Amino acid sequence: MSLATIYSRARVGVSSPLVTVETHISNGLPSLNIVGLPEAAVREAKDRVRSAIINSHFEFPTRRVTINLAPADLPKEGGRYDLAIAISVLVASGQLGELNLRDTEFIGELALSGDIRGIPGLLPSAIACHHANRQLILPEENQQEAALVEGNAVFAKHLTQVTAHLLKQTALPACVSKPAEPLPLDHKDMRDVKGQYQARRALEVAAAGGHNLLFVGPAGTGKTMLASRLPSIMPAMTEAEALAVASVQSVAGRKMGLDWHWSERPFRSPHHSCSAAALVGGGSIPKPGEASLAHCGVLFLDELPEFDRKVLEVLREPLENGEVHISRARGQVTFPARFQLVAAMNASNEAYSGGQDYYQSSASQKYLKKLSAPFLDRIDLHVEVPPLPSNVLVNADEEGECSASVRERVERAVARQRGRQGLQNSQLSGRQLENICALSQEDKEFMQQALEKLKLSARAYHRVLKVALTLADLNDSPVTRAHLMESLSYRKMEKTLSMAVSS
Ligand SMILES: Nc1ncnc2c1ncn2[C@@H]1O[C@H](COP(=O)(O)OP(=O)(O)O)[C@@H](O)[C@H]1O
Ligand SMILES: [Mg+2]
Repeated sequence: MSLATIYSRARVGVSSPLVTVETHISNGLPSLNIVGLPEAAVREAKDRVRSAIINSHFEFPTRRVTINLAPADLPKEGGRYDLAIAISVLVASGQLGELNLRDTEFIGELALSGDIRGIPGLLPSAIACHHANRQLILPEENQQEAALVEGNAVFAKHLTQVTAHLLKQTALPACVSKPAEPLPLDHKDMRDVKGQYQARRALEVAAAGGHNLLFVGPAGTGKTMLASRLPSIMPAMTEAEALAVASVQSVAGRKMGLDWHWSERPFRSPHHSCSAAALVGGGSIPKPGEASLAHCGVLFLDELPEFDRKVLEVLREPLENGEVHISRARGQVTFPARFQLVAAMNASNEAYSGGQDYYQSSASQKYLKKLSAPFLDRIDLHVEVPPLPSNVLVNADEEGECSASVRERVERAVARQRGRQGLQNSQLSGRQLENICALSQEDKEFMQQALEKLKLSARAYHRVLKVALTLADLNDSPVTRAHLMESLSYRKMEKTLSMAVSS
């Protein structure tokens, strides 16, 4: 045989399209040509594959070798095709006999010695390969990730192990999932938060309906502490959500068990000096940003007004549709980014000690001007976190309710939403919302007055209804006037905030 066709997979965002590696060996002066890879990648792949083959006691054909990676317009980064290229050269040169490899895919980078190195972003390929009903042969380093998929993937450390497997001499071991590793000891629990009942309530509502939240208060009152405990009361992830989270982490090159934990909701807190690209992703081969790393979890923006306004504006797209689109010359890359936004803002202590409304002080008005009204619009719950009375802080008995117990209520409210509409309230469209949340004539009039008084936008109105629906779900009842009023109370900063912003 002088022609071989071998399958591998590319990476585009969190999807992984099929790549066909064709190798043709013909008579002529010894040469090696690779078509379909960027210049630099070709040079490197040639050297690695040639050395790996020789160091695995095979021969590199001394004829004219042409390798084509198709389709031609896919971004083909790094060394993930090395293994497939090496196998295709060995098959085309007849060193592996007659093999049918139509049901197998190969992914892995080769070292000069023939060792197989791990690659970032393997999980989406393992998922796609499983759907295509093929066996995946992958680097040992990536086996833990691949084991998350119920496929029949196998792993190898060296090129000779792969050839022995293909020749049915020694079968490669299957990827088996290890039991989920225990969470780190410093795992954050709501029990640690003393007092702050209003903020705790808002956090519970946010978890139950998937709403965005803003904490405002002086430094040291527990805003960061509260925000970092939101994942601990969010509902357990579905299998599909956990895989989606794992795919983003995999593509970002983050190690499971070290950088993140299986089925744990992400919590990301980028510094306020971060760039737009760091927030939503970028790079010539686009990598996910903080918004995507927070997919299905929490994106925490501490010191919100310190963020560059332009940087915050890029979050509007994911806040609206749960996705990030990055345009490149070769086309568009999409990353999932359905996170819950929690923001915190420090207010000066005097505003509180003087009993004065924080939002009225001129210093805070100037601070708040840095935020745009459309951005604030997308935050459903505005909550004040006042200084804690000293007796509450000192009293050891003041321990709060633990996360597990709060989460029970959240899970019940979420089950209600999933049963009714298949998704959380925050994701409802305007039409769905109006069908589900039909208000009485009196309530409609009440809401109309409230809208005018608070000067709420249409978007904000829908968000108020969604929060009211979540409050009702926590209560296991239809939406009542009390729910509407509580929901509106989380918007009472809106007017002062937007006045400060627009003036
Ligand atoms: N409500 C609270 N209950 C228990 N400890 C608190 C509380 N508020 C603040 N603390 C303590 O103060 C520290 C600083 O709180 P932090 O959440 O960083 O405040 P903020 O973000 O509002 O400035 C916490 O690590 C904790 O030790
Ligand atoms: Mg803080």
